Amino acid sequence: MHSLISVLDLKRGEVEQILRHAKEFKEGKEVSLNGDLALLFFEASTRTRVSFEKAAKELGLNTYFVSSSQSSITKGEGFYDTLKTLEALGFKAVVFRVPFVFFPYHDTLKSLNLSLVNAGDGTHQHPTQGLIDLFTLLEEFGSIEGVKVLYVGDILFSRVFRSGVHLLKSFGAEVSVCAPRTLLPRNLEVFGLREVFSELEEALSWADVGIWLRLQEERQDGNFVPSKESYFKRFGLTKERYESFEGVFMHPGPVNRNVDIDGDLIYAEKSLIYKQVQNGLFVRKAVLEWAIGI
Ligand code: CP
Repeated sequence: MHSLISVLDLKRGEVEQILRHAKEFKEGKEVSLNGDLALLFFEASTRTRVSFEKAAKELGLNTYFVSSSQSSITKGEGFYDTLKTLEALGFKAVVFRVPFVFFPYHDTLKSLNLSLVNAGDGTHQHPTQGLIDLFTLLEEFGSIEGVKVLYVGDILFSRVFRSGVHLLKSFGAEVSVCAPRTLLPRNLEVFGLREVFSELEEALSWADVGIWLRLQEERQDGNFVPSKESYFKRFGLTKERYESFEGVFMHPGPVNRNVDIDGDLIYAEKSLIYKQVQNGLFVRKAVLEWAIGI
């Protein structure tokens, strides 16, 4: 039994195993597991929730969906007591998405006979999205040794960036960011970035891959950008930038059309967005198999 809260806890061999099994699932491998899986989603989600549910069902697991609005969280029950309740009911694993940062967590894991899989906790981690982005880039490039990856936009609130940067760097990619100063974390040095760009044109002439991030207005309690229009003009993927960019681009979704990326470009030739969603199913199957089955 394993838990996945942060990519920082994964050993290189475990990442390689998950990627290898994800590839096998994509090629049609079938695995049969048994047991009950709870999907505890206290924040909105489409692709993460549905792909985890589909992955679990295809592996033979029974799934139980719990939302915050219909759970005893509304009566004041905390996250830990909710997990203890699911443990008492005999669940094997809980996939959770929560609006808060789940840290520290190591003592909590020790006190539970449950496998926990993080589907996004506040601004902390979204480990399966990081694995999906790594898997998708390995598929695209074969090896990402020396590949130049640029994250663009809302770095400050991004759990996708905090998960992906570590995984991509550990497989040899060079990672830089381009963002408004207001959307950069203060402790940027901890991420070991190649460069911090303020001008997108310069950044894109450096990059082989652009990963645009969603402007997360629901987490922003102030004016982080002057307006969405000015943000798009300065940091968005416009048609002009798309034409001159020689690389490929990604976005974890959901995309703010005409804020992060021009709406006409989401499924364009240089976009890997649809592949990221498709790969989500296979990566999440591999993560559930690793967490529960082996
Ligand atoms: N990428 C991602 O987490 O999307 P959802 O919020 O739709 O799950």
